[in-house]
Amino acid sequence: MSGERIPPLVRATLVAKGLTPPYLWAFLKRLRNRREPPTTVEAPASAAPPEWEYVPEGWKRPVGGWDGTAIVEAYRAKWPSFLAATAGSGPLGVNHEVPAGAPVPRDDRDAQQNVLVFAYALLSAVRGRDTVSMLDWGGGPGHYAVLARALLPDGVELEYHSRDLAGLVALGREVLPGDGFDDTDACLERRYDLVVASSSLQYAPAWQEALVRLAGAAGQYLLVTRVPVALHAPSFVVLQRAYRYGYDTEYLGWVVSRDELVAVGEGTGLRLRREFVLPAWLSAVGAPEDPVEHRGFLFVRSSG
Ligand SMILES: C[S@@+](CC[C@H](N)C(=O)[O-])C[C@H]1O[C@@H](n2cnc3c(N)ncnc32)[C@H](O)[C@@H]1O
Repeated sequence: MSGERIPPLVRATLVAKGLTPPYLWAFLKRLRNRREPPTTVEAPASAAPPEWEYVPEGWKRPVGGWDGTAIVEAYRAKWPSFLAATAGSGPLGVNHEVPAGAPVPRDDRDAQQNVLVFAYALLSAVRGRDTVSMLDWGGGPGHYAVLARALLPDGVELEYHSRDLAGLVALGREVLPGDGFDDTDACLERRYDLVVASSSLQYAPAWQEALVRLAGAAGQYLLVTRVPVALHAPSFVVLQRAYRYGYDTEYLGWVVSRDELVAVGEGTGLRLRREFVLPAWLSAVGAPEDPVEHRGFLFVRSSG
């Protein structure tokens, strides 16, 4: 796909975001979502480096990665707030990736789009079944298990498995003891009605190989979503400094060529059933594409 234009409002927003300290940006975003402002505001770091950086040398750059204990503790600290945000019949504009100390919102309109994309994939996979099996690759302690149970029709059971790194798998076993958590690829040796990779494929250094393996485990549907995509350039690597989320780390991730992702996905024998544009952008100065948008891709095994 080519020729899409970034909306002027988005570009203006990114410029404003680039000029605004992260603590102030989080505060303004909360105001926009008509939430109560936080009672405490982080002090600004002096001359803090930007959250996003283009990394021309790619995966050769030594960085911390996703397996630190700070990430596990940040996820653990946010879990009760996440559960509260998903309880009952209120809106599911839920985003658990909030700045450290902030409550998990349920009225974030952008987050609701991510949830509805997931709901579309999940309900497609149900198709008359009374149990739906799901593998959540990079699923952490099981946020999508909770969302799925909030979304499924009465009488439909979820058989949920998350594949993640050891620390988050241990947390998942603690908070959702009835579900499956795996820190090895053994979970890819069977098929599931739905395989999901949400904001995770980009963290696989060999993303094409990972996508092929995920496709192999998809009995019916494969949802690859919240992926930063390059619409014109070949795939490239960016670094994210994730300190404001309480993760105390920085990690590399791909901005994946949209066309290559679809070609690799369809090369496995699946068919692209639906592509989604998502309301999220990142900006890494000097990158082959800037700003970068995010998309979702629902692949299906048959004509379903
Ligand atoms: C940005 S979070 C996304 C969490 C969740 N899927 C969501 O959409 O909210 C990225 C997740 O990918 C996981 N991850 C990173 N590298 C991974 C790998 N090599 N194998 C499995 N999971 C990985 C991280 O531990 C983390 O849970």
